[in-house]
Amino acid sequence: MSVFPHVRHRRLRMNEQVRRLVRENRLTVDDLIYPVFATCGQGVRRAFDSMPGVYNLSVDLLLEEVKKVQELGIPGVIVFGVPATKDEVGSGAYDPDGVVQQAVRAIKQAFPNLLVITDVCLCEYTSHGHCGLIKGQRVDNDTTLALLAQTALSHVQAGADMVAPSDMMDGRVAAIRARLDAEGYSDIPIMAYSAKYASAYYGPFREVAGSAPQFGDRKTYQMDPANGDEALRETAQDIAEGADIVMVKPALAYMDIIRRIKEQTGYPVAAYNVSGEYAMVKAAAQKGWLDERRIVLETLTGLKRAGADIIITYHALEVARWLKGV
Ligand code: PBG
Ligand code: ZN
Repeated sequence: MSVFPHVRHRRLRMNEQVRRLVRENRLTVDDLIYPVFATCGQGVRRAFDSMPGVYNLSVDLLLEEVKKVQELGIPGVIVFGVPATKDEVGSGAYDPDGVVQQAVRAIKQAFPNLLVITDVCLCEYTSHGHCGLIKGQRVDNDTTLALLAQTALSHVQAGADMVAPSDMMDGRVAAIRARLDAEGYSDIPIMAYSAKYASAYYGPFREVAGSAPQFGDRKTYQMDPANGDEALRETAQDIAEGADIVMVKPALAYMDIIRRIKEQTGYPVAAYNVSGEYAMVKAAAQKGWLDERRIVLETLTGLKRAGADIIITYHALEVARWLKGV
């Protein structure tokens, strides 16, 4: 017996042609969803230091941004709203003429074939910044449900193709499903933020969306980062209530959750590569401390390998360009 190995894994790594043949996972433009932030006014482009390349855009400029999404072949966008005013009950979220509703109407009119998903939550619209109604010092689950359902309905009436509840109230998927079905929208899918953790990785988003809680935190409704089994229960519940796609958020620190949910449910899984994950890469890249393109492609390919079918990412425009070689 030779002292040299008979089994040599390096044979299948010898050049790019062979590596292509045996590659197990591929990131493609088909996997991507691009988040956008619609705001009021005309000609408004608000930039944020912590998220280079991400803006609040008034509808006129938003259409220019969405045009790039369409031209790059990215299947869809997820729309968040940054309203001019807020109140205790988040009226702007379900205002038929609210900022998201206006943006959705404009996007669907200009780009009828682009998939328009809306984030369904109250936190951008409430003066207290919580994702539900406040009763005493608590976020009240059951009175919030009807408002979430109303919000989802108003998005769909504006033309949204899919709704994505991110509030983490119990029973929201059932409430939204029932309301949409009752109003004749039984064909509209729900992408549920099922395993959404109470995470420090949302920091930059809260600045961009103006949605930081004004007191306390979100730990009574978003999940404890220490928990994995609970993510399976949350996901099973959302599926039982009618969710069509389930989401894990954030992505990078929760790759095990992506894998477990994919294996246990067999449902389409979306991974949200959140604002803090984006900010870390951008900051290091700006300092020249890492190769942004390689880091991003490696990270997102890792999410595919973990089991994600869909990746929601602020890197989507750049990734689409890199994959196309333009
Ligand atoms: C609001 C919402 C948040 C994100 C998406 N929807 C923030 C939060 O829960 O505070 C985070 C997205 C990101 O960090 O990129 N419910
Ligand atoms: Zn919220």
